[in-house]
Amino acid sequence: MMLELAEKYREALKKREKEMPSFDKAITPEVFWYTDPTFFNFEKESVFKKSWQYVGRLDQLVQKGDYFSGEFLGLPYIVIKNEEKSPRAFYNICSHHASLIVDEESSGNKDCFQCPYHGWTYGVKGDLNKIPGCGSLKGLNVKQLGLKEIPLKVKGPFIFLYFGSLKGKGEEEEEDFFPSELLDKKVFDGMSFVGRFSYSLKCNWKVFVDNYLDGGYHVPWMHPGLSDQVNFDSYKTNVYENYSVQSCLSKEGGEEGLRKKCDLDFPERVGKSARYFWMYPNFMVNIYGQWVDTNWVKPIKEDECLVYFDYFYKGFLSDELKQKSLNASFKVQEEDTVICERVQKGLSSGVYNPGPYVPKYEYPMFSFHQKLLSSYQN
Ligand code: FES
Ligand SMILES: [Fe+2]
Repeated sequence: MMLELAEKYREALKKREKEMPSFDKAITPEVFWYTDPTFFNFEKESVFKKSWQYVGRLDQLVQKGDYFSGEFLGLPYIVIKNEEKSPRAFYNICSHHASLIVDEESSGNKDCFQCPYHGWTYGVKGDLNKIPGCGSLKGLNVKQLGLKEIPLKVKGPFIFLYFGSLKGKGEEEEEDFFPSELLDKKVFDGMSFVGRFSYSLKCNWKVFVDNYLDGGYHVPWMHPGLSDQVNFDSYKTNVYENYSVQSCLSKEGGEEGLRKKCDLDFPERVGKSARYFWMYPNFMVNIYGQWVDTNWVKPIKEDECLVYFDYFYKGFLSDELKQKSLNASFKVQEEDTVICERVQKGLSSGVYNPGPYVPKYEYPMFSFHQKLLSSYQN
């Protein structure tokens, strides 16, 4: 795949790897990482087909036959519950003439999955059960015509798929994409799904991730409401091989009475502390107060991404608190959308030269870029 990259890009990646100085002197990636369509396609192979992708939640699949479907970078998938403990995932592509079997982005419950084109029918384990009018085709090896399976892992309440090949990957390498702190059952106990909201952003997917990984640097500038709730002196960052954790306390150690009240955000939403988990390359889990939300950053093209926000709450959530909290959260998302799109415009201008990282804050972003660089080279 590297061969398909323009020569100058290959050289630039090699040069960056070879010459990158220490973090305090490093500069951010070359602009083509964020603006070039060829490079975007290259990332599909080098990054997204080599990482676990969050696609949904275990609570969406309770009864045998429950399913949901989706599409990731042109790869249509369906995740189905059968009588086994773990659900299974398949490409949502008929083995006959390649029609999608169920609609994209659909969900429901079915005994079997029938292709609308000529009626080929598959069971909940992806096996081909029926070929209408097959007559003389009886010699077909039906076993080989089942749906093509996609590796699936369940971590906590979340379902991840692997769209590339796992051949040659050790079990350990397969497992360490998910933060160990989140494997503690208590983290998600009693949590209920509240709703999904999506944001379409006119920026490269990495602009959104970079913004998330700037160690809170942008928060006082871009999020005045949230900023009034957060004690920045307590801000901590831990960076690991495949994920990082940023955490902070609320202002005044979480004593709500001492925090500034404002119309934009409020202490009850943020709670006493917040933890922001990012998993390479494009999934986040945010835990604050009684809330958990996840952000799945889906790349669409070199200057566009779609971010899915799934919200969860622990305990009883009144309609009033739900609406007030979601409104405050939407406000933060809108502020991030505005700044990410402004960054993309600057990157696409053709006159911007990569700038420095600010060492006090931006190490998580730097390590994300280093991890990407390593994926690009492998
Ligand atoms: S393409 Fe599915 S039955 Fe023909
Ligand atoms: Fe932000």
